[in-house]
Amino acid sequence: MRPSVSLVRSVQRVTRRSYSSEAVPERKVAVLGAAGGIGQPLSLLMKLNPLVSHLSLYDIAGTPGVAADVSHINTRSEVKGYAGEDQLAQALEGADVVIIPAGVPRKPGMTRDDLFNINAGIVKGLTAAIAKYCPNALINMISNPVNSTVPIAAEVLKKAGKYDDKRLFGVTTLDVVRAKTFYAGKANVNVAEVNVPVVGGHAGITILPLFSQATPTANLPHDVIKALTKRTQDGGTEVVEAKAGKGSATLSMAYAGALFADACLKGLNGVPDVVECSFVQSSVTELPFFASKVRLGRNGVEEVLGLGNLSDFEKEGLESLKPELKASIEKGIKFANQN
Ligand code: NAI
Repeated sequence: MRPSVSLVRSVQRVTRRSYSSEAVPERKVAVLGAAGGIGQPLSLLMKLNPLVSHLSLYDIAGTPGVAADVSHINTRSEVKGYAGEDQLAQALEGADVVIIPAGVPRKPGMTRDDLFNINAGIVKGLTAAIAKYCPNALINMISNPVNSTVPIAAEVLKKAGKYDDKRLFGVTTLDVVRAKTFYAGKANVNVAEVNVPVVGGHAGITILPLFSQATPTANLPHDVIKALTKRTQDGGTEVVEAKAGKGSATLSMAYAGALFADACLKGLNGVPDVVECSFVQSSVTELPFFASKVRLGRNGVEEVLGLGNLSDFEKEGLESLKPELKASIEKGIKFANQN
């Protein structure tokens, strides 16, 4: 006897469902600072990511609204909002990836280091909670100054006996996104095909785009490379000034943050050859933390890749960024151990 069409359809539905839940593992992603300028669009983009099964949105206030709004989108993940410190434990428990855009943004005239004291304290508190409630999570640090907040997080985790250098990342993806966009504009190539590694740190001259390694190659003249380098380094300031007192990059940052978190999730899920630039513990230079290409895997960092061949201009840039980056790293370490 032939089975009815409706039975066949419902069996197909169940088969599809069980296949898809087996094929894509459950992954909880927590966004800390989810009600902010970056946090809201980042939460939206993470809701669109089919690799996420549970999306946990935490902030000191405002998250129930953001969570209710985002939760109506008909994609895979279940969304929960948590507001206030007494809900932080629940927000974090079981998280595979924790993205941190919590803190205050830069205003015109402020440098990233001006933000230091406020954001350093916020990052310290949130990292201590991660050490307690989800010590195995991959941490994606967006809060600035990244050159200092990553070393702060490392110190806090070390003190709690939970530090794993493979699981802590400073998100520098926005520098890569900008370098790709600006390069494509000048080289007149398809932006979707462009690759540009960006190394060093994540503030001013510590951001070192390696246009000599950019693909597709375009043989741009030196003055254009110099201008592209400067524009990439000053990309944050360009947005801060254009927003004229209404914050810093939020939409492009949310895109970059979502891209990096997606790469982390793919790595965790065993997708091969996932490579992104990130500010991590490193032995690529004499500095303890440095941004370069990183291969992501099931445990976070699988391999920190070297710098490759640098042009003379990039070699000079590398030497001149080291003292500033070193000072920012030391400032973070000192803060974590003093306060
Ligand atoms: P925002 O002020 O719009 O949002 C920050 C959010 O963090 C607010 O909702 C606030 O309530 C929340 N927050 C404050 N203390 C918190 C705590 N203890 N726990 C949880 N949430 C807390 O700022 P915006 O524009 O979203 O920027 C956030 C951070 O990202 C800033 O530090 C900014 O400098 C940084 N940033 C980083 C970039 C990067 O490339 N890595 C690029 C652009 C900004």
